[in-house]
Amino acid sequence: MVEKTFIMVKPDGVQRNLVGEIVNRFEKKGFTLVGAKLMQITDELAKEHYGEHKERPFFGELVDFITSGPVFAMVWEGENVITSAREMMGKTNPSEAALGTVRGDYGVTVGKNIIHGSDSPESAEREINLFFHSNELLSYNKQVNTWIY
Ligand code: PPS
Repeated sequence: MVEKTFIMVKPDGVQRNLVGEIVNRFEKKGFTLVGAKLMQITDELAKEHYGEHKERPFFGELVDFITSGPVFAMVWEGENVITSAREMMGKTNPSEAALGTVRGDYGVTVGKNIIHGSDSPESAEREINLFFHSNELLSYNKQVNTWIY
């Protein structure tokens, strides 16, 4: 089933010049980029995006971090992309994330774990709508030979 998911390179990933590396991994996997922008998250957007975690002890730290510098927000499309992207990201705590995943290869601490990805179809829809206007998302087919996919 073709899905869309919201992926964001967090401020630490942008600062460490990992945007290209992360885009590269998703492109090489075979997914299609349908929207992308470099943006500064406001306090209001951060609190809305992470609203489900507002009672957790690290909520303030999370909001401060995600608003501390530019993020690179993206929407990726493909078969089973929501689950695949989570596997490509690795576990939330980079010290537990497998080598070969983005967090396992580049992350060290749980607060600064480089990348965010939607964890379910419901989250993907909510997060895509929160970060993108419908006219910022493209619909196209770059696969001439669909069997390669
Ligand atoms: S998950 O992936 O939603 O199951 O992870 P979870 O443990 O519930 O964490 C939710 C988001 O909070 C971030 N997080 C933290 N930030 C700062 N400090 C601490 N200690 C911390 N623990 C978790 C975690 O990276 C999740 O953010 P996203 O952007 O969804 O990865």
